[in-house]
Amino acid sequence: MNKQSNLGPVVGQLAGTDIYANQLQRKNSGWGGGKYTPSDGQDTNRAQPPVRKLTPTAKSIVIYWSRSGSTELLASKLVAATDSDVLEITLAQPYPADYMQTLDRANFERESNTPPELQLRLPDLSQYETVYLGFQTWAMTLSQPMKAFLTDFGDALAGKKVAPFETEGGYGSGESIRVIQNILGTKGVGKVSLTVPLVIDGNRVDEADDEVAAWLTRIAK
Ligand SMILES: Cc1cc2nc3c(=O)[nH]c(=O)nc-3n(C[C@H](O)[C@H](O)[C@H](O)COP(=O)(O)O)c2cc1C
Repeated sequence: MNKQSNLGPVVGQLAGTDIYANQLQRKNSGWGGGKYTPSDGQDTNRAQPPVRKLTPTAKSIVIYWSRSGSTELLASKLVAATDSDVLEITLAQPYPADYMQTLDRANFERESNTPPELQLRLPDLSQYETVYLGFQTWAMTLSQPMKAFLTDFGDALAGKKVAPFETEGGYGSGESIRVIQNILGTKGVGKVSLTVPLVIDGNRVDEADDEVAAWLTRIAK
């Protein structure tokens, strides 16, 4: 039996890795309280190494984390459109496959302000002018893994154009962007210029090509 069958069909590829995003086309049902956003308990990467494409010449990089694939699919579109390098954020302990257990852990981490430990070797970012940062809305704020990334590595973004992109389950971005600004502010990363965010419902990332293109044009100005 295919262990990944509950993740739905393969909907894309990123640096040779298959993308599953079961939330796609769940119109009017949001993320179904977790029902439509299965994970394999490996943050979408069972049996696959973390996504990482680093070249000596790229001027931009897409750095993202995704549990159930929607943000990863959006990341793949940005990589294709901008020819960016790509780095998947990975955790020491992935969130459980079970949504309720994921929710419990995420709530605990948020309420106790203890974001998850990362398992990530950050490459030298000095060649990049633009960093596209991909994450998702959790409890109407920034998801805990991106909070951990910014807390640990936010200073590496100094002097760069940071372009946030986000997927959500039908309720919008919440306070995510304000939290990013706050974390970078407390780290003294004074010169980050944050663009307007791209926010896409996780159930329709597959039909967001026009929005992606319009956003890229807008933030290029
Ligand atoms: C723990 C958890 C909490 C969530 N909280 C919200 C929320 O408050 N509002 C919302 O619109 N979507 C919420 N979602 C839905 C996700 O934002 C949405 O499914 C997103 O597209 C998932 O991205 P991913 O597939 O890259 O992991 C939540 C999902 C999880 C797993």
